Amino acid sequence: PFVVIENCIKCKYTDCVEVCPVDCFHEGPNFLVIDPEECIDCTLCEPECPAKAIYPEDDVPAGQESFIALNAELAKAWPVLTERKDAPADAKEWDGKPGKLPLLER
Ligand code: SF4
Ligand code: F3S
Repeated sequence: PFVVIENCIKCKYTDCVEVCPVDCFHEGPNFLVIDPEECIDCTLCEPECPAKAIYPEDDVPAGQESFIALNAELAKAWPVLTERKDAPADAKEWDGKPGKLPLLER
C-alpha cells in the first residue's frame, strides 16, 4: 500500500482523496492516512499531493518508517474523506518543516 508521511501534518491539502478509486483516505484533525487494507496500489494519489507526502510503503524516506504503522492504526480510528476541502490557511508555511510528528492531533 501507499503511506502518508510526516509532511502532510498541518498541510493537509486533501487533493489526494479525490483520485482514490477505493476511498481509502481517512481524515484526522490535521493529517490524513491511507488504510493499508483498502489501498490497491493504483499510484494515482502520489502525484496529486502538493506536499509530496505520499509514498509506496517500500519506498518511504529514511526516518519515516513509523508512519507505516501509524497509517494502519489511525485509519481504523478516523472517518473516510472522499471530497477535497480547503487546506489550513497556514498550510504553505508548514510545508517542508521537519519534526511535525509531535504536532499530530488525534
Ligand atoms: Fe487510493 Fe490508489 Fe492512493 Fe492507494 S495508491 S491510496 S488506492 S489513490
Ligand atoms: Fe496530505 Fe498531501 Fe493529501 S498534504 S491531505 S497527503 S494531498
